[in-house]
Amino acid sequence: MLSSSLFAAIVVSLGTGQVVSQSCPSYSSYSQSRHEPYSTGAYALAYQRPAPGCRTFNSTGVEDAILRIKNQTHDPDLSRLFENTFPNTLDTAIKWRGVAANNSEEELAFIITGDIDAMWIRDSANQVAPYRSILKSKTDDIASVFRGTINLQARYLILSPYCNSFLPPPESGLKPGPNGATYSVKPSYDHNVVFTCNFELDDFGGFLQLSHDYYTQTGDVDFFGRFQWLQAVQSIVAAADAMRAPTYGPDGAWIPPVYSFQSQTMTSMGTLGNNGMNYPVNFTGMVRSPFRPSDDAAIYDFQIPANMLLARYLDATSAIVERLPNAPKGLAAQMRDMAGEIRAGIEHWGVVTTPGGQKIYAYEVDGFGGQNLMDDANIPSLLSAPRLGYLDANDTVYQNTRGWVLSRNNPWWCAGPVINAVGSPHIKPGAAWPMAAIMRAMTSDDDLEIINAIKEVVQSTDGFGLIHESVNSFDAGQWTRSWFGWGNAVFGQMIMEFAERKPHILQESFQPFFIAKY
Ligand SMILES: *[C@@H]1O[C@H](CO)[C@@H](O)[C@H](O)[C@H]1NC(C)=O
Ligand SMILES: *[C@@H]1O[C@H](CO)[C@@H](O)[C@H](O)[C@H]1NC(C)=O
Ligand SMILES: *[C@@H]1O[C@H](CO)[C@@H](O)[C@H](O)[C@H]1NC(C)=O
Ligand SMILES: *[C@@H]1O[C@H](CO)[C@@H](O)[C@H](O)[C@H]1NC(C)=O
Ligand SMILES: *[C@@H]1O[C@H](CO)[C@@H](O)[C@H](O)[C@H]1NC(C)=O
Repeated sequence: MLSSSLFAAIVVSLGTGQVVSQSCPSYSSYSQSRHEPYSTGAYALAYQRPAPGCRTFNSTGVEDAILRIKNQTHDPDLSRLFENTFPNTLDTAIKWRGVAANNSEEELAFIITGDIDAMWIRDSANQVAPYRSILKSKTDDIASVFRGTINLQARYLILSPYCNSFLPPPESGLKPGPNGATYSVKPSYDHNVVFTCNFELDDFGGFLQLSHDYYTQTGDVDFFGRFQWLQAVQSIVAAADAMRAPTYGPDGAWIPPVYSFQSQTMTSMGTLGNNGMNYPVNFTGMVRSPFRPSDDAAIYDFQIPANMLLARYLDATSAIVERLPNAPKGLAAQMRDMAGEIRAGIEHWGVVTTPGGQKIYAYEVDGFGGQNLMDDANIPSLLSAPRLGYLDANDTVYQNTRGWVLSRNNPWWCAGPVINAVGSPHIKPGAAWPMAAIMRAMTSDDDLEIINAIKEVVQSTDGFGLIHESVNSFDAGQWTRSWFGWGNAVFGQMIMEFAERKPHILQESFQPFFIAKY
């Protein structure tokens, strides 16, 4: 996700389709000060939910869940952090909901990432995903948010599968501001539709994962045959296949890639070298991802976590395609074949040996032997591999990788008295991402590790009671982004899961100087 500073000047002005009154303060500014009443724990966390009239979606399921979890939670600061974060997407990010101009049954939801008025495919998928825990039927209020998000993502992925963030649909009446950046991108795209065009493979996985969540929770298979979902799946399968091409053909001749990107930027991570094509790749069966889930440029294009996510969900959603009478012949088999080829590529090229002699997953490889040993906080990450459904948490290579990622061996391991978590070159060394501490807890079965990770998240909000993008591991007062929708969503999801998986965790104290009883 982009840092807000880069695009702070680009705002989308409110049109007739707005869901909240113009008298409501923008959450961008609202989230920059602490609101009362403060929680009664040592961290005195602010109450950051907007006033009821200023919330962008009301869900009785979410309000019930908040009451239920608060009642189960012993620690007042943990309770407040959950109460602020779990509803954050619904409270603040549903900029517009409506239906398609040419089909009044096709719901659409424009979900902004937080402090930037554009819809990222990956962020929106991750912002909505936590509500899976309360989605039980296609008639639930929250089900319409899933359908609206999937339908609008499908439209974008048909129009510009190589792009990653998008402007409001014309139906919304929201007026997009000018997109000020100077880009040279192939293939070209419509500047009235696209906000930024970084090709990030996890967008495909995110779309399929959200689709799969909706399908498994509601069983509503008909939905997928009614609108543009099948066309979107064909669009991403074709784009993914094109992005598997190697740099050199069998005769040695250079094959120009289908996608290239150059932009004027202060940072080397914001553009691609080699005339916008990034470094050469060999054929591996995996799909290139010139940009990472942080929106930063990759070093080597075969990003292992994004390929893990895609392999899992191409396979999982082929079952939906199979059940649709109007599905193109052979599409489900093509998805399963591609998933198998990607998986074989990951296992052949992505498992590498560390200088210490351990077998772990690399973060990125090029198929020539080039390997980038690191992990990044943004999800999909190596740390999150079992959460992507790619492997079981007890997998030996994963356990090696996890230990390596959560150690000084990982160049982006950020340790200190405030928080110990993976960071990201998107910010800088020493800036730990609470999202990675949350993912550490979500991938652990060890109560002490879980409690310590949650404790570090609770003590790193600087009294705001919201999840920051990054926090200086030595100074909780230095952080980035007051409104980071994705981070809030993942925290809410984690607590909802512990309420089921390990309810005793919610009985713990997360106050300072607390010594865990385990
Ligand atoms: C949510 O409910 C409040 C009343 O509690 C109402 O004022 C507000 O308009 C509702 N928001 C939406 C988006 O329907
Ligand atoms: C709170 O939890 C207790 C049991 O733990 C239960 O009896 C009570 O009904 C709950 N209250 C609410 C509002 O959920
Ligand atoms: C409806 O409109 C969308 C975009 O506005 C377009 O992509 C789609 O093809 C249209 N569908 C039909 C059935 O005309
Ligand atoms: C490139 O990939 C091919 C298989 O597609 C493989 O035979 C060859 O050894 C690879 N090249 C290198 C340098 O690893
Ligand atoms: C790993 O966990 C799975 C279930 O989660 C189990 O079926 C399998 O036996 C476990 N393997 C090992 C080596 O413990």
